[in-house]
Formats: sequence, C-alpha cells, structure tokens
Amino acid sequence: MSKMFFYFFILGRNPRLSIIEILRYLTTKEIKSQIINLIGSALVIETETTLNIRNCADVLAGTIKIGRIWVMSQEQDIDNLLQTASFYLEDGNTLKYSVECYGNLNKLKHYQRLFKQIFKDMRQKAIKKNIPPHALSNALQTPLFIDVVIIEDESGNIYVGRTVGAHDISLNKKKYEKRPYIDKKIGTSIRLSRILVNFCGLKPEQSLLDPFCGIGTILQEALLLGFDAIGIDLEKMRISQCEKNLEWVKKTFTAKGNYELFKGNATNLSSFLDKNSIDGIVTEPELGPFLRDLPTIKEALKIKRKLQSLYERFFVAVDKILKDNGKIVIVLPQFETKTGEIIDIAIEEIIGNTRLRIYDMKREKLFFKETQADKINRQLQTALEIPLEYSEKWHRLHRLIYLLEKREL
Ligand SMILES: C[S@@+](CC[C@H](N)C(=O)[O-])C[C@H]1O[C@@H](n2cnc3c(N)ncnc32)[C@H](O)[C@@H]1O
Repeated sequence: MSKMFFYFFILGRNPRLSIIEILRYLTTKEIKSQIINLIGSALVIETETTLNIRNCADVLAGTIKIGRIWVMSQEQDIDNLLQTASFYLEDGNTLKYSVECYGNLNKLKHYQRLFKQIFKDMRQKAIKKNIPPHALSNALQTPLFIDVVIIEDESGNIYVGRTVGAHDISLNKKKYEKRPYIDKKIGTSIRLSRILVNFCGLKPEQSLLDPFCGIGTILQEALLLGFDAIGIDLEKMRISQCEKNLEWVKKTFTAKGNYELFKGNATNLSSFLDKNSIDGIVTEPELGPFLRDLPTIKEALKIKRKLQSLYERFFVAVDKILKDNGKIVIVLPQFETKTGEIIDIAIEEIIGNTRLRIYDMKREKLFFKETQADKINRQLQTALEIPLEYSEKWHRLHRLIYLLEKREL
C-alpha cells in the first residue's frame, strides 16, 4: 500500500463553510484524500500525496491552522509514544511552545505537564507561551516555536501533531482597512469573499466573474489567488471605486491576475461577454433594501417577489455565458419576519428553465473513508448539504450560500 499522510485542520467560526472550502481545495488540486475524523472544530484528513501546508493555510480563509500529525493512537499508549518521539530541536536554543487540546479539553493540564516533563528529560530549554491567533502565522516562521495540537475523540482516539501553517488574519485586516474604498453597507467580508472564491474551484489562470461586483471584494480575492477577474455593476460610481481598489491590490500585493470592469446590468451579460466563455461566477448580488427592523410577512413577500424576478433574469443570462460544468457560487437572502416565519428565495423554481443545477457535494465520494464510523459519516453528510447558512451577529438578514453547476447538454 502506498504511504499515506495525515493532517489536522482547525476550523474557523463556521465549520461547515470551512469543511467545504477544504474539500473544494483538495479536489481542485486533485489531491486524493479522505476524511478520517471530525472532532469539534478539528478535522483529520488522510492524503495520498504530501500537502504544501503553508500554501494551504495562506489560501484557506476558513481554517485557523493546519499541521502534520506525528502520532495517532489510543489513549493508553499516547504518553509513552510522545516520550519516545524525537521531534524536538536539540541545538541548545531555548524553545517556545504552546500546547492546545481539541475534543477533550479536560486533558489540557495533563498534556501541558507531560510536555514540560519531556523537555526537562531531554534537557531542552523550553518556555510555554500563549500566542494569540493573529500572531500565530508570524510565530510559526521561526523554527524555535512549536505549537503542539492534541485532538481526542469520544472513543479515546488521539491525534497529536504540530502546526505548520496558520491563516494570516492580520493580513485580512490590512486588505480590508487600507483599501482606497470601504463601504460596510455593501462590501462583502474579506474572509467570506475568499471562502466563496475557493468554493468555485477554479484552476490557475481561469477567469472569475462577479456580475454584482460593488467595490470589488470578491474580485480582489480572485486576483490574489492568481485568477483573472471580470466585474460588472449597475452603478458607475461602484465601477470606479472597484477599479481603484483593484489597482491598489495589484500594486500592494503584486497580484498576478488581470481584471476587466463593465458598467452594466447583470441580467444582460451577453452584451459584454461571449457565449460559453466564463469559467466560474462568484457573487453576492443585490439583497434587497436595508432593513432596520424585521419585516412583516407582507413586506418580506414583496421584497422576495422583486428579488426573485431579478435573480430569474440573472440566471437566464448566466446560462448563456457560463461554460459547461462551470460553477456559480451565490449568496442569497433569507428573510425572518416579525412573527417568526422564514421566507426563502425559491431557487429551484427560478433555475428551472436553465441548465443550472444545485451542486451535490456528496457526489465527491472520494472524501469518505469506507470504514469510517457511522456517526462521523452522518455528521459529515449534514455538513455537506447545500445551501450553507451564513450569518454574523450584526446581520439582520440571514444569508444562504448556494453552489450551482451548469450541466452539459
Ligand atoms: C451586495 S453588493 C455587492 C458587494 C460586493 N461583493 C463588494 O464586496 O463590494 C451588490 C451590488 O450589486 C449592484 N447591482 C444591483 N443591481 C444590479 C444589476 N441588476 N446589475 C448589476 N449590478 C447590480 C449594486 O450596485 C451593488 O454594488
């Protein structure tokens, strides 16, 4: 049997989004992999080829940190195995280290003591240090820092590894705050934009269209990931703001991709773009009026009707310019009324006359290990259901994320 490699991924604040982002990344890179376990916010994956962990951590905005697993075992053996493993530095320098537990938090003190003892026995000078999440990516640049991760499931399976890469959150802040134009009312968050672009699963040098591009957050993430970006917006002012933002991104981060922007209507895409020419679409469209309070049913239904008419015309336009098997990642609103009803956009109905269909993540069978415990399988099956809900504390509106695909004839 070929050698397998084992990795842990510590997921961010919306684990379903993070899992799908990881799986889409692995499929796009054609890395054969299987999910071994999902324990709280820790995902354990087995791959047939090695992962470039640093690159993975740079690309994936939904994952906090990633590392290689050193030791996998049952509870009773793990302390002995750790004591005999030789994964520490021995060059006389003082080591800084942190120990983090996932799954069984009660064991944290135990492992902290164990590592203290191990370093003492090895005569390795070592100081325990708590690194805040925003500083982790930087701290990992030095070989004198070790972030040990211990993951334990309910059946006593333990995975121990060392973090190799962390997503640089401080960079997100810079990308957001330093742009020439920010508009909290319309701008999609940097983190969500990056995740959505990763859902799309484009290959290098393919192009991404955002037909409701606003100030260009999704497009900027596409450029940073090396794709070409095409943006369309109804408002002249947005196009000019978007252009300034994209120029800034290209200059500041030396992004490779090129961009093209058009002022125009997303329901009329064929007047700017050739038939079957677009590889992928990622967009947060017009979501309706800004809501100060929860709407009544009557108000919500009125907004829904208006938006549905826009989306329906938009999907017909998309059907013409998207390539076969091309993907669309789209954020749609879900309204909660004053009296507690939930009003959804009838997506299946409005894509009914096109070749667009909801993408079935479960089709990607390669991700499930056959021998896997039923419970984990069930947990994962639910995690992979499209749409994905996304709402932040400060959002009045719930958002649903859909991944669609254009079927071949
Ligand atoms: C939610 S915002 C997009 C935010 C964008 N992702 C960003 O980060 O800036 C929606 C945008 O769609 C534009 N828009 C509304 N109706 C449109 C239409 N029919 N065609 C094209 N753009 C439209 C609005 O001007 C607005 O800029």
